[in-house]
Amino acid sequence: MNKPLLIGPFTQLLPMTGLPLKGALQDEQLPIIKNGGILVADGKILKVGVFDEMKSSDVDVHRIEGDHVCLPGFVDSHTHICFGGTRARDYAFRNAGKTYLEIAKAGGGIWDTVTQTRKASQEELVKDIISRSKRHLKNGVTTIEVKSGYGLSIDEELKMLRAIKQANETSNVTLVPTCLAAHMKPKDWNQDQEYLDVIINELFPIINTEDLAHRVDAFVEESAFSPEEIKPYFQKAKEMGFDITVHADQFTTGGSQVAVDFDAVSADHLEASTEKEIQLLAKSNTIATALPGASLGLGCAYTPARKILDAGGALSIASDHNPGSAPMGDLLTQASILGTFEKLSNTEVLAGITYRAAAALRLKDRGKLEAGAQADFVVFPTDNYQEITYHQGQLKPSMVWKNGINVCQ
Ligand code: NIG
Ligand code: FE
Repeated sequence: MNKPLLIGPFTQLLPMTGLPLKGALQDEQLPIIKNGGILVADGKILKVGVFDEMKSSDVDVHRIEGDHVCLPGFVDSHTHICFGGTRARDYAFRNAGKTYLEIAKAGGGIWDTVTQTRKASQEELVKDIISRSKRHLKNGVTTIEVKSGYGLSIDEELKMLRAIKQANETSNVTLVPTCLAAHMKPKDWNQDQEYLDVIINELFPIINTEDLAHRVDAFVEESAFSPEEIKPYFQKAKEMGFDITVHADQFTTGGSQVAVDFDAVSADHLEASTEKEIQLLAKSNTIATALPGASLGLGCAYTPARKILDAGGALSIASDHNPGSAPMGDLLTQASILGTFEKLSNTEVLAGITYRAAAALRLKDRGKLEAGAQADFVVFPTDNYQEITYHQGQLKPSMVWKNGINVCQ
């Protein structure tokens, strides 16, 4: 039997433990272990502490030379990295002054990606998901949520969810699938039956049987589904045991109320949220997820992250990586930039892409470096954690460990 592996020493080790799920965080609260080490066996963390105190004849040692900062592998709690084609034309239109809704009406928008994704085979989608997730992994992201939502028919949604499942089986990254069959009303739907009724009665049971997802999402917005229209969809999803997450308050409010009413795990976007929605979320169990990549891609306001934290809310930060509103797909860059605009402490930014993001996916075994957690961690070549956000994503990891294996160096 192999001995446990002691990895280190790390100049600074940030376990992200002992911090609250909700509310503002100051950097003085951030636990830092100097010259830290992580003891790993069978892909899990056995112990975190001071490297020299953990050395013994019972452990093998993977020695790290030079200055390094180690923290939990990043969790990207909201992406759409299963898609076909590109929307570069939308981006150019938008920068020429057309709005998101005007572009959608002119044949661009989500429906354009639906058309392009339907043309791709399941194998092509698997290949694209793997190549996009490899890029995220290199940047330190070890867990990625991935939504369907560019299929918008039973068969096409299943193709996407099966592609995500297949990619997860061969990828080094953990992919967490979410059914987003209510991304918009499909333009080609035969009006004889209600689209959402078919999704509820036919798609949800197959997702359960094939174990394709444990989470259900919808876009609650004037251009997609109203709060009233979406209720039966979430009602049924909840009855069937799915976790609920909502694309909420992106352009108009209403979605966060739906999220709180259904005790959703997260309400994501929130760029249009006002004081009322901020208070509502802060008092709830629903995690608020900021998507700065969508603000950067669309050229619009950021989620009021500072206000959400000051009101006592829990804040996750995710990339929303998708071909339309958030084509960049660089979580650390986006989270760092959100920090500058919203005046977030380093601890708030790092919490938003580690343990608070893991909580938005209901994953208790990651986002923190502690005994029993997955041995997923990212290492940066510096002696000071402040350098990480300061370089706004340009300081790249020197190593990324996933399940106790050094997968990128
Ligand atoms: O999260 N807002 C809705 N859905 C995506 C955009 C998808 C797209 O434009 O293709 C989002 O921003
Ligand atoms: Fe999204």
